[in-house]
Amino acid sequence: MASKKLFLLAGDGIGPEAMAEVKKLISAMNREMDAGFETEEGLVGGCAYDAHGKAISEADMARALAADAVLFGAVGGPKWDTVAYDVRPEAGLLRLRKDLELFANLRPAICYPALAGSSSLKREVVEGLDILIVRELTGGVYFGEPKEIVDLGNGQKRAIDTQVYDTFEIERIGAVAFELARTRSNKVCSMEKNNVMKSGVLWKEVVAATHRARYADVELSHMLADAGGMQLVRWPKQFDVIVTDNLFGDMLSDVAAMLTGSLGMLPSASLGSPDPLTGKRKALYEPVHGSAPDITGQGVANPIAMIASFAMCLRYSFAMAPEADRLEAAIAAVLDDGLRTSDIAPPGAARVGTAAMGDAIIGKFLG
Ligand code: IPM
Ligand code: MG
Repeated sequence: MASKKLFLLAGDGIGPEAMAEVKKLISAMNREMDAGFETEEGLVGGCAYDAHGKAISEADMARALAADAVLFGAVGGPKWDTVAYDVRPEAGLLRLRKDLELFANLRPAICYPALAGSSSLKREVVEGLDILIVRELTGGVYFGEPKEIVDLGNGQKRAIDTQVYDTFEIERIGAVAFELARTRSNKVCSMEKNNVMKSGVLWKEVVAATHRARYADVELSHMLADAGGMQLVRWPKQFDVIVTDNLFGDMLSDVAAMLTGSLGMLPSASLGSPDPLTGKRKALYEPVHGSAPDITGQGVANPIAMIASFAMCLRYSFAMAPEADRLEAAIAAVLDDGLRTSDIAPPGAARVGTAAMGDAIIGKFLG
């Protein structure tokens, strides 16, 4: 079988602990299934800053560009709170997204039946929840220029961030959302703020035009992003696919994540355009949880988001949908068996650590 090149960037905090479980899984797949994964490891975030004085080295950027897929853990922590803005840990992640042109960020929010009780919302609101947030990831206010703080010379400073979108950027993220909706419940809700933002006016216009021209079979609705946030906590099951810009997507995906019981459960995929010749697309897979400095090094982090991110990698980078389905089923099965890391354990219930959760999932997966 052709080799599959994975570049592992575990990063900081609980990133390495979660990644260790995926490394075990990859070894097991190579051993038992002849899966043919090749792995290389690099540094990103605070650990890269400590080693190289920047959030990712040029050598590791080159490895990321050459890989079939990047698996990413988490970056940041209090140790690096005071480092210069352009070398802060998050800069490594933003550089990867930008240079690999990973414009489409897929963030599924699925409520596993066994966890419907751990959500802060009522069981009937979240049970059976299955929504997908498609967040634009390489444009908008994250990258728009100018982006600066200028000294006005009168004791005042002025901070500027620029929200900017071109037609093609909205068109291509819209298309990703419509394509994915066709494989699900065939509904897309587009969220922006066309009542106050020009970028929102264009966003709505372009999504509607893309829909009319190529995806009229998909049910499309539009919502102002603030109302969308409210609807997400009021009755999230009204949504199937939500498509939105970089900043609204950042916020709405954290809201959606918490509906499912814990940030420790949620995977994500960041995808580029398919190469016109090979059909391959650049991709990075990353849990939505951050580096969680408060629990780092204790062996208690939930590895499910990282493992589920690897399932997305199997699905989107290696056309291994049956294996991805089985891995997701293995996660659901250990949850059904009652295994809980501390983030998803009800008060007083037994808890397992990171490695035990990883081992149990791998065990079920290999059957
Ligand atoms: C995310 C994170 C990042 C973002 C940070 C770490 C830069 O919050 O992936 O949602 O804002 O995009
Ligand atoms: Mg975020």
